[in-house]
Amino acid sequence: MSSSSWWCFLVVALLVSALVVTGTTTEDEVCEQDKNCFLPNCLCGSVTHPGNIPFDEVPQFVVLSFDSAVRDTNIDFYLKFKDFMNPNDCRITMTFFLSHLYANYPMVNELHRIGHEIGLHSVTSSDVENYWRPANESVWMHEMDDLRTIIENNAFIDKKHLKGWRAPYLELGGDEMFSALNELGLEYDCSWPTLRYTNWFGSNPIGALYTPSTTPASRTVSSDDALPRGTTGWVVPMIDLNDNTGEACAMLDNCNGNFNLNYLNNKAPFGIFSHYSWFLEGHLNGTDARETGYTRFLEWLSSKDDVYVVSVDRLLEWMKNPVPLSEVGTLDAFKCSADPRPDCVDPQEYTFSMEDNLPNSLDEVIMGSCTRPQPDYYPWLYNPEGDLNIPAV
Ligand SMILES: *[C@@H]1O[C@H](CO)[C@@H](O)[C@H](O)[C@H]1NC(C)=O
Ligand SMILES: *[C@@H]1O[C@H](CO)[C@@H](O)[C@H](O)[C@H]1NC(C)=O
Repeated sequence: MSSSSWWCFLVVALLVSALVVTGTTTEDEVCEQDKNCFLPNCLCGSVTHPGNIPFDEVPQFVVLSFDSAVRDTNIDFYLKFKDFMNPNDCRITMTFFLSHLYANYPMVNELHRIGHEIGLHSVTSSDVENYWRPANESVWMHEMDDLRTIIENNAFIDKKHLKGWRAPYLELGGDEMFSALNELGLEYDCSWPTLRYTNWFGSNPIGALYTPSTTPASRTVSSDDALPRGTTGWVVPMIDLNDNTGEACAMLDNCNGNFNLNYLNNKAPFGIFSHYSWFLEGHLNGTDARETGYTRFLEWLSSKDDVYVVSVDRLLEWMKNPVPLSEVGTLDAFKCSADPRPDCVDPQEYTFSMEDNLPNSLDEVIMGSCTRPQPDYYPWLYNPEGDLNIPAV
């Protein structure tokens, strides 16, 4: 597939749209809402909002995500946004697509406890050419499901809360990957870049998609590749900002500018998908501009009473049940109560050495975990429990 290889370090803005998949349409069938596609399970691709809502009562959603391991080097940054509130006085929420190596699971537990969504981003994050391109369905399934097991065991987060997937390097895996998502009952994929369906591409923009569906009408939404038939999850496309360099929000003006094009045009969800390393790179270079721009953008958003900053899974809940702004705050997915009590009360740091099944010829890896005792082996692909009886890789 042709997805761009490497969006790391970029702040990719996107548009999130929900997508759908019915699994019953044929190649030639055109998706028609309320004819062959029905909410809450199916939403045809469209550049207008779902539901019968007057435009000025459509909420503007913003989706923020971070990829890779949550750990000591980035947790303080993530927790900085704890006091930002949505119009219903509930905390803004983000989605963290986790990879395993170096992850600190008590920190993952804390992000989840305060309301953020935890998504999956693979166990190994192996390289593209030799690993992901030739990967078969079994490999994809293990990368997803073994990570679910590792997170459940070590961060004490029930598998049922782990609903979304982002492919490493956005290397979409075609039929094998989507079949794996289906088999595991994962709810959505969020790895599909699109530049064409935005409010800023070309001289006469088509408009940003709300709901690219997998049905034929919108099969070319984001690339020339079609989703395989029989897919039953949602696809939340990533819509690129107006430049591909990732610098979009380094300058606050740019970030606001892209946002406004959506806000004033069709209110398609607006996304900023980041890696912490992009902010760190700025710090290493002696500038806080990236972090400052991002933070100010969030501050500016919180001054708007029709903007909700939510995780991908919450956005999907609205796509399935599109209600006007006045009702959004009372949807179950958007309501909040006091944060639950911590359930990772005795966080551990386990050290694994070369003999403990470490990948990539590493000498030592430290893994923070909520569980006891320490697993015998470092949990890894094909051995997520770290079981001594499973041969080392
Ligand atoms: C899938 O690929 C893996 C790794 O290359 C291989 O070990 C496995 O046998 C393959 N499974 C199937 C069903 O082809
Ligand atoms: C620092 O900034 C320069 C110029 O913008 C850039 O070429 C370089 O890659 C940056 N270095 C780091 C570590 O970010």
